[in-house]
Amino acid sequence: MPTLDFKGKPFVYSHHLSVPFRELVVDASKSVPPAGEAPGLDGNLIIHGDNLEALKALLPRYAGKVDVIYIDPPYNTGNEGWAYNDNVNAPQLKAWLGKTVDADDMERHDKWLCMMWPRLQLLRELLSETGVILVSMDETEISLLYSAMDEIFGSDNRFENIIWKKRYGGGPKEKFFVNLHEYVLVYAKSKSVITKIDRPLTPEKIERYYKWTDDTQTGSAELRSILGPDAFPYPKPSSLLSTILEAKFHPTDNANVLVLDSFAGSGTTAHAVLALNKADGGNRKFILVETEDYADALTAERVRRVIKGVPGAKDAALKDGLGGSFTFCELGEPMDMERFFAEDGKAPSWDQVARYVAYTATGETLTRAEGEDGFAGHAGPYRLHLLYRDDPKWMRSNDAMLDLTTAERIAAAAQADGGKPVLVFAAGKLMGQRALTDLGITFCQLPYSVHRILGDGSEGVAGVDAA
Ligand SMILES: C[S@@+](CC[C@H](N)C(=O)[O-])C[C@H]1O[C@@H](n2cnc3c(N)ncnc32)[C@H](O)[C@@H]1O
Repeated sequence: MPTLDFKGKPFVYSHHLSVPFRELVVDASKSVPPAGEAPGLDGNLIIHGDNLEALKALLPRYAGKVDVIYIDPPYNTGNEGWAYNDNVNAPQLKAWLGKTVDADDMERHDKWLCMMWPRLQLLRELLSETGVILVSMDETEISLLYSAMDEIFGSDNRFENIIWKKRYGGGPKEKFFVNLHEYVLVYAKSKSVITKIDRPLTPEKIERYYKWTDDTQTGSAELRSILGPDAFPYPKPSSLLSTILEAKFHPTDNANVLVLDSFAGSGTTAHAVLALNKADGGNRKFILVETEDYADALTAERVRRVIKGVPGAKDAALKDGLGGSFTFCELGEPMDMERFFAEDGKAPSWDQVARYVAYTATGETLTRAEGEDGFAGHAGPYRLHLLYRDDPKWMRSNDAMLDLTTAERIAAAAQADGGKPVLVFAAGKLMGQRALTDLGITFCQLPYSVHRILGDGSEGVAGVDAA
């Protein structure tokens, strides 16, 4: 199959692998949690941050779990003011940093591909086996997008290029052809497992189909009614997103899908998800990512308002409020185990570390469960235990070490769990390898020397290993 060649490709080809994992840090003051609950990371999310890092941060929890990805990235028209800003270790790419990509930039197509490539790779990792990805695009980069998607997702997994009519006629300034449409390119993670696609039709939907009038002006009018004038240029109408999300890609149940939009803008995708849930009682979830500072004042604010109700809205459901909730997150420190506790004693939570080590060790997301002796749940075929606390003093104590008594209890629990193989993550062990092997336990040293970082160990046992 022909492949794309572009400046920077050798450097970005595997860049997604070296992007550090970061924590997702909840900002309760900007969240709208379900009534009576604290905001958590299991429900709807709005993440403020660059999507390259945000998508990586989502992997330990959501790899292979996202049903529908919709993205509306910069079209690279030369008027969007975006800049290539990724931390790729190559002098050619560093020379691009921070420079706005305008229409005269001779390397603008290379820059765009360098920006999109690692993001599409991460999006593919997040997609479930029955998942689909839809990408909005216009004439500017559609041909390069096709080639990049064919290479990353596989041309066999290409479904369709949906034509979307974005306006209704040219203007006096048109010199050549009048362009009235854009595209939504659709790929599956694995097209062969999708048995059919249908859109359940109701009389209202048939009427809307024949009278379809929702263009970019509709999107602007809709956003104006929620946030006032000039809040955001060219938002998509929420009906475009509802139309996409109403499609049922069998065997996925489209009323319970997890939807990811990592170029969130004004939050249209979240609006559509909440509107559909309100209309049919569904339980769709959304994850949005927006890098600009308006992630709070625009993206999240639109979602807050549609949840609570928009007094001036024509749509009755929107006027009353669509209901729902979300958690607002920032990106935290990189999950660099070598630096845990290193600066100002900070370390990630037990839950974050459990998900991170499970994903990095097994390539599977952790199915969380509760239990004794640091039981964290299952990752693929494994049962996972983590002896860890975000408390330096505890990490230096004997309790943080795997000893024979604890190991025997863990082995007994694994037997009762169908004899599953066990991974135990801890800062050290106070028992020999032979005993671990006999018990069917794989010991995984947390990949950093807690004791070295925490000091001379004057308060307790420092990394004693009886092996
Ligand atoms: C074309 S707009 C999306 C509009 C959106 N579909 C709507 O209806 O409002 C693209 C958005 O992606 C955001 N964006 C661009 N690069 C990003 C990145 N690296 N990470 C996260 N967001 C990004 C931009 O700030 C902008 O808000």
